Amino acid sequence: MTIGLSFIMGLVAASVSYFMLSLWWPVAIILGIAVWLAFGLFGLKMDSAFTLLSGAILVFCISLSVMIMRSSDQLSGLQYADTVDETGTEFRYPVPLLGNAPSGERVYRSHGCAACHTQHVTHEGVEFDIKALASEKNHSAVKEAVNRFYQVTGNPASGGIALGLPVGEWETVALGVSVSDAAKARGFLSSAGASVDVQVRFNGEDLEKDNFSNPDGRGWGKRRSVARDYLFVERPMLGSVRIGPDLSNVGTRLNRSTLMRLLLDPKSIRRNSKMPQHRFLFDVVKESNEKGIITIRNKDEQVFYKPTKEAEALVDYLLSLKSANYPLEEAPVYQPFTSSLPKPEEAKKEMEEKTGDEGSDTK
Ligand code: HEC
Repeated sequence: MTIGLSFIMGLVAASVSYFMLSLWWPVAIILGIAVWLAFGLFGLKMDSAFTLLSGAILVFCISLSVMIMRSSDQLSGLQYADTVDETGTEFRYPVPLLGNAPSGERVYRSHGCAACHTQHVTHEGVEFDIKALASEKNHSAVKEAVNRFYQVTGNPASGGIALGLPVGEWETVALGVSVSDAAKARGFLSSAGASVDVQVRFNGEDLEKDNFSNPDGRGWGKRRSVARDYLFVERPMLGSVRIGPDLSNVGTRLNRSTLMRLLLDPKSIRRNSKMPQHRFLFDVVKESNEKGIITIRNKDEQVFYKPTKEAEALVDYLLSLKSANYPLEEAPVYQPFTSSLPKPEEAKKEMEEKTGDEGSDTK
């Protein structure tokens, strides 16, 4: 093979390993050179089934091991994370299933709830809002940075904010920009010495409704589901078909008695409900004086249903499903402007002097 042709082979090998197999670039270059040498110097020819087959097997093995090693590295390194609940109390997330919930999970699996319900809150896009705070010292530099940001991103609404940028007050610089633009804004602004506040906003049908940023939201989760949510789930029941709503977060939407009624007689909750009845999870009893008995009235007779152990466990499990409710680093819950970057010390001090402690207690 001529040296030119073998060089092209080497180039192909290096590009495939870098762009398609995502190998580290030095490894890709070494591979490319090895291929170039093999074909150019050592006269390797692609003329036998043996060479072709060994090449194919080599490529297969490399890609398989890289793909599996990379994802297993990513997932096996997952750990607990600190988060906060509705009342602001910190706790470690995720929480393993407690009490009856593990057997409820088995009931959920055995009755095929996953055939109609998913446990996976999805998102369609992510947007960033950016605020900046300039001090007297860096005011003109920050103005310059805002201008540069607008020029680079081709934002038509330039002049206004850049010219009227106040000193010592948070000012919204950009709303709903993409990842790369947010990175640019952060870079420009922080190198000009401004304090920068970046807020991540996910949107998509599954997430909370917001008239401005997510008008189609169904409120199935406050945030998207991520791998960490399934840390303690032996066999995640993600489901694929959504005949009923997603249940990742159902424990925050419905209470025990509603869930019981829903299993016994969904039409008593919503008239046109397509959710099937699960009466076999209840025993008919004569008396209604025990706790948790559900009464169903037909025309002139009353029937009392007592949940079986299975039903109780299933409902315990459903009530424990709150995964898409707590903010995580990789899946924040939208809160208006809590900074993701520590403030530069100087600007912070100056701001405190100027505005008392207003704003300085944002994290
Ligand atoms: C044949 C499909 C189907 C199966 C199987 C099914 N469901 Fe449903 N489920 C639905 C539908 C449809 C709804 C929406 C009902 C409505 O419109 O009120 C629903 C609603 C629900 C809700 C209320 C969710 C909400 O946010 O309002 C819960 C909880 C629920 N199902 C739990 C279960 C459990 C637990 C099982 C397994 C024992 C199960 N479902 C099996 C179709 C199904």
